[in-house]
Amino acid sequence: MKLTFLGHSCFLVEGKNSTVIIDPFLSGNPSSKVDFEEINTDAIIVTHGHPDHIGDTVEIAKKNDCIVIANDEVASYLSTFGIKTHGMHLGGKHDFPFGSVKFTLAFHSSAILNDKQEWIEGGSAAGILLTMDQKTFYHAGDTALFSDMKLLAELHPIHAAALPIGDNYTMGPEDAWIAAKWLQADYTIPMHYNTFPAIAQDAEKWVEELTKFGLKGKALKPEESISI
Ligand code: NI
Ligand code: MN
Repeated sequence: MKLTFLGHSCFLVEGKNSTVIIDPFLSGNPSSKVDFEEINTDAIIVTHGHPDHIGDTVEIAKKNDCIVIANDEVASYLSTFGIKTHGMHLGGKHDFPFGSVKFTLAFHSSAILNDKQEWIEGGSAAGILLTMDQKTFYHAGDTALFSDMKLLAELHPIHAAALPIGDNYTMGPEDAWIAAKWLQADYTIPMHYNTFPAIAQDAEKWVEELTKFGLKGKALKPEESISI
């Protein structure tokens, strides 16, 4: 499994035969130079309804004629744009042709900003366990620290984990270290930082500290990849 960080919370996940993109916020994302037109994918997963996670989902889904996986409320909203969607919810797992997706808890909100710039109901925010080719990537979404992360690690082998470290809207650096220690992923990757002034963090330093706990991690630069 190859993970490419595309800035903020966006990851392109490539398996042997399939590609999935998570939270494709590319247009208007100051930390990404990638044009959504360049994205070739078999599926899109959206962790929650906020604009910095839905991002270019509709355009990418139309261009690739691919399925969008999101919580039921976000999926139902996105389906009004004439794209294929698959609704799921917390605790649920489903097998897709590319692999399996499980929606996990995330302590955050999930309202959707519609075309009229009104906030509408968007269900619950989620984290994602994506398994492809026997490797599992945990994308925590936007979340506060919660101790049931220990349960995730107990129930699933986690080969890579992406954790928000930006603070203000999600876990900050200190809480994310605790999460990383609980998850014991083979690789921990920080995300959701430096996109906006309110979430400025030194990710290199965060990873340096992580290695002191005996954990491996990498602060991927936008468009940088790791293979797990
Ligand atoms: Ni959010
Ligand atoms: Mn966010």
